[in-house]
Amino acid sequence: MLILSPDNWPDYELIDCGNFEKLERFGQYVLRRPEPKAVWARSLSEEEWRRMAHSTFIAGAGFGKSGKEDSGTWNNKKSMAERWQVEFQYQTMRLKLRLALTSFKHVGVFPEQAPNWRFIYDSVKSLTTKSPKVLNLFSYTGGASLAARAAGAEVTHLDSVKQVVTWARENMESSGLDNIRWIIDDALKFVQREVKRGNVYQGILLDPPAYGHGIDGNRWKLDENILEMIQSCKKILAPQDGFLLLNLYSNGFSALVADTLTASVFGKVKHSECGELVLQDRFGKRLPLSVFSRIKL
Ligand SMILES: C[S@@+](CC[C@H](N)C(=O)[O-])C[C@H]1O[C@@H](n2cnc3c(N)ncnc32)[C@H](O)[C@@H]1O
Repeated sequence: MLILSPDNWPDYELIDCGNFEKLERFGQYVLRRPEPKAVWARSLSEEEWRRMAHSTFIAGAGFGKSGKEDSGTWNNKKSMAERWQVEFQYQTMRLKLRLALTSFKHVGVFPEQAPNWRFIYDSVKSLTTKSPKVLNLFSYTGGASLAARAAGAEVTHLDSVKQVVTWARENMESSGLDNIRWIIDDALKFVQREVKRGNVYQGILLDPPAYGHGIDGNRWKLDENILEMIQSCKKILAPQDGFLLLNLYSNGFSALVADTLTASVFGKVKHSECGELVLQDRFGKRLPLSVFSRIKL
């Protein structure tokens, strides 16, 4: 079981976490936001958090006033920008990702995903197929798509929300990349159509949420749909010289849930590994944020 965290990333740091919050630096800006998993005590004082944070997410104060911790508003100091960029470098990949403060406390990048971006880059580079094809499902602002593209793959990027696909396209352009195929669709419906069309990919990446909306009223429910999704992915993944990355961050699923699921569908494979993606703060406290299964055929 692997425990992976971003390292060598000057533009990102988890400074401290605890008391159900995290304090992070993205480039030059420090953000303070809720973190339900940080059930321990923080290391720095409240005064230090207040002094360092350029912006603080106030839960439940925003859109819908639902009281839910993932909807709210940001309380900005004067020095806070509305939009800014962070860079991520690995081998020949130089990503420039645009960040913004959204009303759902997200900022446009999930920094714990950095080890997956490296895996994707290395996996594409090690394929022997010429012009390998990679399908990224539930792809948000596109970090994984850009990693695959930077390594030379022909990338299909799919998300059901138009705004995040536009955001991903901006990230592609600012990163000096091109020719990603953009699809706004329901992930499961698209994969089922690809099965019928007989299309095959050398790489499939998926990071499904607990609940989601496709288009045309299709609903995604992780526990009900994930088995059918992985079974359908198997039908469009090259049986040799292929790889799949399944990332899960909800329902409290452990790495072994992801691993057993992919093993049950794919059986014996050339290589498989699973683990957790964690962020480690300045004081050594580890904050686990998602789990993954990676297989190579
Ligand atoms: C949290 S994001 C995944 C994060 C992304 N892999 C990354 O690391 O940047 C989940 C994404 O799934 C999308 N989504 C939700 N339901 C969907 C569906 N039925 N079909 C396609 N995309 C969907 C959401 O719009 C969102 O962008």
